[in-house]
Amino acid sequence: MRVRVLGSAAGGGFPQWNCRCPTCEAARAGVEAHPRTQSSIAVRGAEGPWLLANASPDLRQQLEGLAVERVDGVRAAPVAAVLLTDAEIDHTAGLLLLRESSTPLRVYGSEQVRRALTDGYPVLPILGSYSGVDWRTLEPGGSLALDGTSLEVEAFAAGGDAPRYLARTGADVEATGLVFRDRSTGGVLTYVPGLARLDGDVLGRLAASDVVLVDGTFWRDDELAQLGISDRTAAQMGHVPLSGPGGTLEALAGLSRPRSILVHINNTNPILLERSPERDAVVRAGVEVGYDGLEAEV
Ligand code: MLT
Ligand code: MN
Ligand code: ZN
Repeated sequence: MRVRVLGSAAGGGFPQWNCRCPTCEAARAGVEAHPRTQSSIAVRGAEGPWLLANASPDLRQQLEGLAVERVDGVRAAPVAAVLLTDAEIDHTAGLLLLRESSTPLRVYGSEQVRRALTDGYPVLPILGSYSGVDWRTLEPGGSLALDGTSLEVEAFAAGGDAPRYLARTGADVEATGLVFRDRSTGGVLTYVPGLARLDGDVLGRLAASDVVLVDGTFWRDDELAQLGISDRTAAQMGHVPLSGPGGTLEALAGLSRPRSILVHINNTNPILLERSPERDAVVRAGVEVGYDGLEAEV
């Protein structure tokens, strides 16, 4: 199977339009930091078409970078389906940008995500008036063969909070991770861009993968407070921070099998600065900082 990181930044992208933090300013100046688009990957099996996991607001430019074979017909989609890990705006705003599809958009996600995108942020009913939606429920713990490909996908619970647009309803939306298995090669890829609980179940799945693409949102739990941006902690936003005891970096450093790559990196995260001590710590842990256009064969 092949995976391409379409967007390696968290919501807001890098640099973020209204942010003057040191890392965003470095990206603007082109000094020791490269701009990144918002969180999404594309996956394809040894056989079959590309599939999108998460649909970012930067989807149009991201899909232009995807290598696709010649196809018949004037209107031919470069991706066969979209899988959603959650209902956050950075992972779902791109669905509206697929409204020109000439066939109903095939979308996979949990029932909690379907409800959020129906009642809270009604992208699915809106698409109903354009392309239409062919919704496929994929619950945490469940797995499915992906039609027309050699891939199977399994979803697992990754914790986390509901999107802020649902706060007034009190509805729960837990994020999921996705494990892709290629029946024809045996390769295993795990994608978890929002990881709030690094428990034994999640660690076991990461340890049993060939490549993992993991939540690298924040370096510190109080990263936003330190910069005077917000009082919300990484934990309150549904992300285990990278640094410190119990942090994601320590956990990834302990895994021997997978190639570990960080994705969904927030624009405040100092690992985006190529000569920072934090970047150095990531590299020393044997972990990679994801970037847009990174491809891996699994
Ligand atoms: C998150 O990853 O925590 C959310 O996408 C934050 C947001 O942009 O609302
Ligand atoms: Mn996000
Ligand atoms: Zn910033």
